[in-house]
Amino acid sequence: MDRFSAENYQSFDIPILNNLSEEFFIRKEELCQKLALPGIVIEGQIQQLRESGYNVLSDKEKGYRIISRPDSILPFEIKNKLTTSYIGKAVFYYPEVSSTNIIAREIAQGKGYKVPEGTIVISDKQNSGKGRSGKKWASPPGGIWLSILLYPETISYHISLITLMAAVVVANTIEKLFQIRAQIKWPNDILIKERKVCGILTEMGTVAKGIEWVIVGIGINANNDSTELPEDIQKSSISLKEITGKLTHRAEVVRLLCTEFERFYELLKRKEFSIITEKWKSFSNVIGKKIQVNTGNRVISGEAIDINDRGGLILKTEYGDNLEIISGTVLK
Ligand code: BTN
Repeated sequence: MDRFSAENYQSFDIPILNNLSEEFFIRKEELCQKLALPGIVIEGQIQQLRESGYNVLSDKEKGYRIISRPDSILPFEIKNKLTTSYIGKAVFYYPEVSSTNIIAREIAQGKGYKVPEGTIVISDKQNSGKGRSGKKWASPPGGIWLSILLYPETISYHISLITLMAAVVVANTIEKLFQIRAQIKWPNDILIKERKVCGILTEMGTVAKGIEWVIVGIGINANNDSTELPEDIQKSSISLKEITGKLTHRAEVVRLLCTEFERFYELLKRKEFSIITEKWKSFSNVIGKKIQVNTGNRVISGEAIDINDRGGLILKTEYGDNLEIISGTVLK
């Protein structure tokens, strides 16, 4: 077996969870039969659930019943009630990981079994979270750190639009769940009250005939506090919990995010680019403004007038010409 094949990546899971509910008790013998596992393993999994924050009632006669659930992103909590066709249908979950983008990349590059499009890698905590421009991305417990694996075959020229599309997906998800209007700072920072709630890092692998895989890494400050982030970004960051004043149900956020992602990704595959760019512009905080963009080798000033169908920002410079900028950072 190849060292980096998907078979090597066993998602952390507690399979018994699929058979437990708040509504009724289930007897240990029935669980043993259903899962083809001995009683001792069932007891071990019940213990694991309790350690993960699930309150499980156990009764000698009646069996087990869930009393309350924690804010869990175990695969079952995401996949249960998920209505998508392929985004989020397969979930690799880890309590702690280097970076979900790194794991997703290794899975994508694996020689063996090819995981389905829309597979997500998600973790409670990243130790080496990756941000844009080689920066670190602080990822304490309570956030939503996930990567979505895609195989876009026919849209190479428009590939940068995937990142902008993902920003629209996050902004839409926040609006639908919390009735809060977020803003997108080009290309892909999601801001609320001018503070960053989410960042997106897209990476891709190419072969001679084009793009082989794309990983869209999405990091949302959800139930973590901005005070847990490095000092230099605390004032410019905010979490969903801080915005709403209450704990966010992360699995619910992930489910809606998957639904919105599938909806917009289908539009992208059908080349209905203008629906995405129009939506992006409606959330944008740069269109119509005089800004400065650092492209890596120079700083360009001008008025942001549009976004094109390959995700480029159109800047009208002081000389009156329109420049297309494909990647960079807005300075002000
Ligand atoms: C940015 O700099 O704004 C992009 C941040 C992207 C962070 C996410 S968290 C999930 C995924 N895994 C990573 O290591 N990075 C992305």
